[in-house]
Amino acid sequence: MSLVRFEHVTKAFGPKKIYTDLCLSIEQGETFTIIGGSGQGKSVMLKMLIGLLKPDSGEIYLDEKRIDNLRDAEWIGVRRRVGMLFQGGALFDSLSVGENIAYGLREHLKLSENELWERVAEALSQVGLEGIEAMLPADLSGGMRKRVALARAIVMTPEVIIYDEPTTGLDPVNTRRINELIIDLQRKLKITSIVVTHDMQSVFSVSDRIAMVHEGRIIFTGNTDELRASSLAEVKAFIQGA
Ligand SMILES: Nc1ncnc2c1ncn2[C@@H]1O[C@H](COP(=O)(O)OP(=O)(O)OP(=O)(O)O)[C@@H](O)[C@H]1O
Ligand SMILES: [Mg+2]
Repeated sequence: MSLVRFEHVTKAFGPKKIYTDLCLSIEQGETFTIIGGSGQGKSVMLKMLIGLLKPDSGEIYLDEKRIDNLRDAEWIGVRRRVGMLFQGGALFDSLSVGENIAYGLREHLKLSENELWERVAEALSQVGLEGIEAMLPADLSGGMRKRVALARAIVMTPEVIIYDEPTTGLDPVNTRRINELIIDLQRKLKITSIVVTHDMQSVFSVSDRIAMVHEGRIIFTGNTDELRASSLAEVKAFIQGA
């Protein structure tokens, strides 16, 4: 049974067609990677999954429940189950690291201050950044910012985490660290992960399955061996060019 499913989704912005027939099925517990050229619609796909953008037609399911037609208020429940690490991190610069991570908890759960800060400390420890609650985002390195953003996503204990280019702009050491965290979270917390990345090292190290988006559709789905062996020109170009 699939946890996330896109069925014949179409999406255009004015005359510009992004998806003409998006069909995709992601299983519970797997790490599913989405690849494809810049501007092909990877971020748009993720935004449709969390309701920030609406498909023009077609259906999106989470756990067999149709979600693309939910009313605004009903999306809150979905967003608690699906955490997103946005491209670029998107921390609130005026809030401390701790308040950034506590933000969603305060919005959605009625916890005591003690419980709240325990959850924040635990999330920071899961990403290897114990004790930095009082720091400001501006004082963090790029790699630390990504990890704080990840702590902010996992503190809500989501079932699905979406990573939009989690390693872009990071040095090899931090890239490896983020990849290890993605694998670690899947193993320890059984989280289903959806990862968009241009980084082939990430693709091959974290993915159970991979899909490639090209010209409005998924043109390839398979595991890492099948990706390596693919004879599709677009796949080969992507692997070699990345
Ligand atoms: N809200 C929007 N309004 C109009 N056009 C949009 C909107 N969001 C995305 N687009 C357009 O849709 C196309 C796909 O964008 P998207 O951000 O999904 O690409 P991407 O595959 O994530 O690229 P990248 O790898 O560079 O992040 C782009 O041409 C973009 O300009
Ligand atoms: Mg993008």
